Amino acid sequence: MPEAHRKLERNAIGFVLAIIGVSAIGGLVEIAPLFTIHETVETAKDMRVYTPLEVAGRNIYIREGCYACHSQMIRTLRDEVERYGPYSLAVESKYDHPMLWGSKRTGPDLARLGNKYSDAWHVAHLINPRHVVPQSVMPRYGWLMRNEVRIDDAGQHLAALRVVGVPYTDEMIANATKDAYGQANPDSDQAAGVTQRYGEATNVRTFDGEPGRLTEMDALVAYLQVLGHLTDAAYKQTSSAKE
Ligand code: HEC
Repeated sequence: MPEAHRKLERNAIGFVLAIIGVSAIGGLVEIAPLFTIHETVETAKDMRVYTPLEVAGRNIYIREGCYACHSQMIRTLRDEVERYGPYSLAVESKYDHPMLWGSKRTGPDLARLGNKYSDAWHVAHLINPRHVVPQSVMPRYGWLMRNEVRIDDAGQHLAALRVVGVPYTDEMIANATKDAYGQANPDSDQAAGVTQRYGEATNVRTFDGEPGRLTEMDALVAYLQVLGHLTDAAYKQTSSAKE
């Protein structure tokens, strides 16, 4: 074998051809799965878009760098599925621009976080994680409760997302600021439009526990509570797999 290799190395053209051959195999292995991408990426008819308040919350999540410690992607490995729930499907991040799969887990994965805790738990945890998890190393985010969330530009955020393929309607864009306010103020006149435009299952409530003022806490908690619940596709898939 070493002898054959020595010969090959001394034959420039032969060596070049061998390199091309070997890298072509590598290329094929990477490219071939893409030929079947339409069959691999599932569709989900019930998939809904983020509401304007959830988009604002997502932007705060990005601004604060939560993705540096938290992933949003459950792998198909058994230990992950047992700990976090059904593994993530590609369709679930269809409207995520940019995607927030993350690459590091200092804290747990958040892909199935929605409905796991109460809003009050999230508020207490974000103000000071040590209030609810004494050994936590997560930083505090107390200012989220003090900062008013900016929603006057909510329509522009939706319009920008529409450019990259998220199916926001003109009506959703025109009413974005109103809907952002309504979602966190269930007793206001603006609340009804939210469920009408985004579906009955949309959470409409006072996320930060204080009605009236719309804080960054409202937006971030609204976003956290919908993680993993924009579609039921992943839950259906695992239940049918078990049958
Ligand atoms: C320095 C790393 C770090 C950063 C940054 C960070 N976290 Fe955490 N997070 C953790 C750790 C560690 C835990 C586990 C202990 C705990 O529950 O506090 C955790 C837990 C959590 C949990 C509970 C998850 C569960 O299933 O129990 C949530 C929700 C959460 N973080 C949200 C956030 C949000 C939102 C941000 C950004 C505003 C953020 N984290 C930023 C490290 C971090």
